[in-house]
Amino acid sequence: LAQATPTANLLNFTAVKIADSVTDPKVPSISPEYQYEVLIPWGTPIQPGGPEYKGEPSKRPTAAQQAKQVGIGHDGMWFFPKGETSNTEGMLCVNHEFGRNSHLLGKDAPESAEDVRLSQHAHGLSVIAIKNVGDKWKPVASKNSRRIHVNTPVTHSGPVAGTEFLKNSANNEVKGTVNNCANGYTPWGTYLTCEENFNGYFGDSTYDADTETGTWEPNDRQERYGFSSTGFGYGWEKYDPRFDLSNPAYVNEQNRFGWIVEVDPMDGSQKPVKRTALGRVKHEGIAVTVGRGGRAVGYMGDDQRFDYCYKFVSKANWRSMRARGLSPLDQGKLYVAKFNENGTGEWLEITIKNPKIAAEFKTQAEVLTYTRVAADLLGATPMDRPEWTTVAPNGNIFWAMTNNSRREETGPGSPLAPNPDGHILEMFDTNNHTGTTFTWSIPYIAQETHAAGDETTYSDPDGLWADPDGRLFIQTDGGQKKDLNNQMLVADTNTGEIRRIFSGVASDEITGVAITPDRKTMFINTQHPGNGDPEKTNFPAPTDGVTIPRDCTIVITRKDGGIIGS
Ligand code: FEO
Ligand code: CA
Ligand code: CA
Ligand code: CA
Repeated sequence: LAQATPTANLLNFTAVKIADSVTDPKVPSISPEYQYEVLIPWGTPIQPGGPEYKGEPSKRPTAAQQAKQVGIGHDGMWFFPKGETSNTEGMLCVNHEFGRNSHLLGKDAPESAEDVRLSQHAHGLSVIAIKNVGDKWKPVASKNSRRIHVNTPVTHSGPVAGTEFLKNSANNEVKGTVNNCANGYTPWGTYLTCEENFNGYFGDSTYDADTETGTWEPNDRQERYGFSSTGFGYGWEKYDPRFDLSNPAYVNEQNRFGWIVEVDPMDGSQKPVKRTALGRVKHEGIAVTVGRGGRAVGYMGDDQRFDYCYKFVSKANWRSMRARGLSPLDQGKLYVAKFNENGTGEWLEITIKNPKIAAEFKTQAEVLTYTRVAADLLGATPMDRPEWTTVAPNGNIFWAMTNNSRREETGPGSPLAPNPDGHILEMFDTNNHTGTTFTWSIPYIAQETHAAGDETTYSDPDGLWADPDGRLFIQTDGGQKKDLNNQMLVADTNTGEIRRIFSGVASDEITGVAITPDRKTMFINTQHPGNGDPEKTNFPAPTDGVTIPRDCTIVITRKDGGIIGS
């Protein structure tokens, strides 16, 4: 990425005022020096000329059409420039985390297998060729554009691949990725999509809500991962046996999810690969950097109240591993963080060689399948919902701790109890990302921006991206104070100053951040605008009170053509 000349003041734009951002929550607000355009809303044809859905309440896509369209729930994403350097053309990988039945189907529960297929095809991710034509971005035809959804053939790699933990007596093909939240990207040009709340798509088809009984009961490990009889209410288990926890032929289908999935954006025929060495948790995202000896290192949050921070370090230099036909993400060490009160911390290796873990597990494959349980045994430090991670140019790692309303006592890395509004933790990893110790501090506490008259007000930091100049982009997901919508802010990490650059529409969340190599075009997303309610907003359609609001990408440029955030 282009390195700009350091300037005394990194933030040279006019902040979006609170008053401006709440006047019309039906459309977004942006800093006056900036402009935005809408790209690839839910229902956009993946290939130009394909079936299109424009938000008409009575003409929802069929499942077959949805499989050829951009999905719903736009979240983490990354831009892969054509020829590695183009600022006007490339592949955009966009996660489709989720769409509630009410938004996607227009009803609370599916009534047929077709409804479930539509829901499944709207989840996953899009890989879509985009190009700036006549000063406007639009999708263009490409053999590498594709949808990857819940029924797309995928494969597992690494220590758990081929083991009993992934086998079903139904012998069904391994398919799909779901609840793709945040993301990562590798030095070798691939996209990483992270499976977060996968548990919520499973349920017990025998469960009777009136008597509150069913044939399935969770075991301890299933409880640790949050499986329940009704899940999040998607109802897939009623029409698809893969998601039925009570079906003995599919007992390990649930273990096939909860991984980080590698996708080649430049090869539409590649089978997505679930990298099991990175562990199975509710993966928020992964920030990949290169550490000592050229090792690939990934920092990963497990987004749940009181869950943990993880790090993966590849076994050897990523280039040499790839030259030998090995994936740097298949062999290496997985660690979980233990934070100490004095601002230090330790990376505890999650390995079957540790007696605490060997007392409960038989193989490393079993350990990785139940990563959370192994991390519990090691005494990892419970955090306030670790969401996105990003590595700053100085090597420090920022972690968004989005909130934790249930925290009753402060602890290392968690300065507030309760913590309804979140904070951002900064970590310095010793030995160039490959060591087993770190130091940490808390540079940003959202609550400190809540005083009357403070224009920087924000809560619930979630999406993060550190640019090469020292700016930190902060995106929010949660109830904002002072009637604000969710927003994106930019911090100058040298001075600590924060300014609001963008605010979204009613009931949305701002998430996902990607950038062109010249950093003059940024892509972000509005997720679940209006929570699907056309009376709250019709965005991105013109305000009509009827059109269903659709998740979409927002392309941001500076009116004077400058670097985004400047
Ligand atoms: Fe999908 Fe934790 O956000
Ligand atoms: Ca998130
Ligand atoms: Ca969130
Ligand atoms: Ca979300």
